[in-house]
Amino acid sequence: MNITKAIIACFSPTQTTLRILQAVARGVGASEVFVLDLTLPEQETRPLPEVGGALVLIGAPVYAGRVPAVAERRLRRLQGSGAPAAVVAVYGNREYDDALLELRDLAIELGFVPVAGAAFVGEHSYSTPGTPIAAGRPDRRDLGEAEAFGAAVQARLAAIKTLSDLQPLQVPGNRPYKPRNPKADEAAPETREDLCIKCGKCAEVCPVGAVAVGETVTTDGRACILCCACTRACPTGARVLEHPRITAWREAAVTRLREPKRPNTFLADTRVP
Ligand SMILES: Cc1cc2nc3c(=O)[nH]c(=O)nc-3n(C[C@H](O)[C@H](O)[C@H](O)COP(=O)(O)O)c2cc1C
Repeated sequence: MNITKAIIACFSPTQTTLRILQAVARGVGASEVFVLDLTLPEQETRPLPEVGGALVLIGAPVYAGRVPAVAERRLRRLQGSGAPAAVVAVYGNREYDDALLELRDLAIELGFVPVAGAAFVGEHSYSTPGTPIAAGRPDRRDLGEAEAFGAAVQARLAAIKTLSDLQPLQVPGNRPYKPRNPKADEAAPETREDLCIKCGKCAEVCPVGAVAVGETVTTDGRACILCCACTRACPTGARVLEHPRITAWREAAVTRLREPKRPNTFLADTRVP
């Protein structure tokens, strides 16, 4: 099979997942790459492109060992129609637990044929300059490995005539998946009014429309998924996530998650004739 078109379909509030998938797409070497970024709320309803003939690179960050519910809901709008897919989970150097298995299972449910899977490390959403967690990831080495993964997917597909020449993709994870616990509090980033210039960037990048900018900036703590898109996008450092629960976790994680983890990649085996 020769792949000439790739579609990146991802949810990526702080863009580590997107950057890794872009590197995978470079490695695939498809002449046409279409990016379907499902991060913003308008993607709940916007018409999606046909996948016909493309390799679809499906990616999501890991939240509490799972694919975030909002990412799953948006990915569920895709129709696989028998197209090959590579699934990629991006995690903040703790663990990816069941998220990669969940993406693989979801891809099958949507009618894709998952041919490869990978878990890559991205800077943890809660990382700050003073309390760095996987800071700077993906780094050059990660992006090189993502490109090599893309090239390996292309080579595996080039070696077969049809997708039925591949065995089912195996990736780590457990079923039933870890439970997705409902948010126990209304933790959310806050705005330091002395630094805020009311530019509205925080509201613009919020994947769940939880931020409103008026006289002051207000955040719906029940809707906020703590993704930190707003804290990263704020040009003046006015948006901060300093809820005591997150601060305590972050301070412990700096030491606990210090040892850098490396990417894991998995390819579907070819059937023995
Ligand atoms: C609410 C939440 C939960 C998270 N849970 C995990 C986790 O279970 N394991 C992990 O290693 N990283 C976890 N992370 C970190 C993200 O997976 C990581 O930062 C990822 O690179 C973010 O992807 P993005 O840049 O595409 O948004 C979590 C982040 C958030 C916001």
